[in-house]
Amino acid sequence: MVKVALGELQSLAKEVLAQLPEGNERAIILALIGELGAGKTTFVQALAKELGVEDTVQSPTYVLMKSYLISQGDTLKPGLSKVSPYKKLVHIDAYRLEKAEEFEALKPETFLNDPHNLVCIEWPERVEGALPTPDLVLNFSSKDAGEAERYIEVT
Ligand SMILES: Nc1ncnc2c1ncn2[C@@H]1O[C@H](COP(=O)(O)OP(=O)(O)OP(=O)(O)O)[C@@H](O)[C@H]1O
Ligand SMILES: [Mg+2]
Repeated sequence: MVKVALGELQSLAKEVLAQLPEGNERAIILALIGELGAGKTTFVQALAKELGVEDTVQSPTYVLMKSYLISQGDTLKPGLSKVSPYKKLVHIDAYRLEKAEEFEALKPETFLNDPHNLVCIEWPERVEGALPTPDLVLNFSSKDAGEAERYIEVT
């Protein structure tokens, strides 16, 4: 469990990316657990920045899912140390899904089978059973943290 201020999110995002398995045969899944406002979306924004996503990452609360292309090769943003093994960042917010079957409407097989996808899912507990075991779980909490910081645990 680390206490992370907003200014430190970028380096945490870098560490998390370095921890993800390589040589995967399907999409990498990152489960983001934590109460409303705990900082899950903000972390995905840091991750997107680290990956060189050019678009602004907004919370997919209402649209459920958003995908972002990751720059590769010549279009790679200066300052990024290595070419990302991912081509697409898929950001899901399952908060509004009432049961795992509703997840099927997102046609998960279209993005879960592609090893070039990094799938970040907020509120994964809502779709338990419909999702393969996550590669990494992050727990977020604002409880007992200062207003400008969050507790984040990587498991
Ligand atoms: N590490 C952090 N330190 C300080 N403030 C943070 C941190 N992470 C997020 N915040 C702030 O907390 C607020 C809510 O964050 P965010 O939208 O990321 O929460 P969330 O977990 O995605 O919530 P929801 O479940 O509603 O989608 C934002 O105003 C954001 O700036
Ligand atoms: Mg969110």
